[in-house]
Amino acid sequence: MVKKNTCVFISGQGSNLKNLIYRSRDSSFPIKISLIISNNKKAKGIDYAKKYKIPYIYIDTRVREYDNKIFLNLKKYKISFICLAGYMKIVSSKLVNHYKKKIINIHPSLLPKFKGLDTFNRVLKNKEIKTGCTVHFVNEKLDGGNAITKKIFFINDSDDEQILKKKTQNLEYKAFPEAIIKVFRNI
Ligand code: GAR
Repeated sequence: MVKKNTCVFISGQGSNLKNLIYRSRDSSFPIKISLIISNNKKAKGIDYAKKYKIPYIYIDTRVREYDNKIFLNLKKYKISFICLAGYMKIVSSKLVNHYKKKIINIHPSLLPKFKGLDTFNRVLKNKEIKTGCTVHFVNEKLDGGNAITKKIFFINDSDDEQILKKKTQNLEYKAFPEAIIKVFRNI
């Protein structure tokens, strides 16, 4: 099986990245993580790139032409698939169009509910009875592409934001690899 050269975009902790690195070591898993891009110089996720000797670059998205730098690197590493794993920046429409159906994102809610930021707080304020996570294709609308995989759990009265985050992320570690397998099964 020829694994797809994949770039993972991150901004922070990188726990989904870490999980994908583990999963992608399995010979039957469809992707190889060939590049990691972070728009945060201090992202903890960069430590995983170092630890597992995966090429990584920091992209300062405040600088004009930053998208060109992204494209150059995607080309350099022959990237054919992109995972947004806690990347807190909207990707350019040029990137979305170039990688149509080849960029996926993980979001900590049951989309289309609670797009954008501050998800857990809004879930609680809205007195939802259930929540979860969604892996979806990225299109030009924020958190708007077709869903690939969703995972759900029921909220307890005692759940606060931290607990919701933990429960959601535990499901994310199942949902993201599952979604990747699903995407390549359908090609
Ligand atoms: C994840 O929970 C992901 O769903 C969320 O950021 C977290 C990153 O955690 N993404 C978004 O909110 C995107 N809008 P990680 O860096 O530990 O993987």
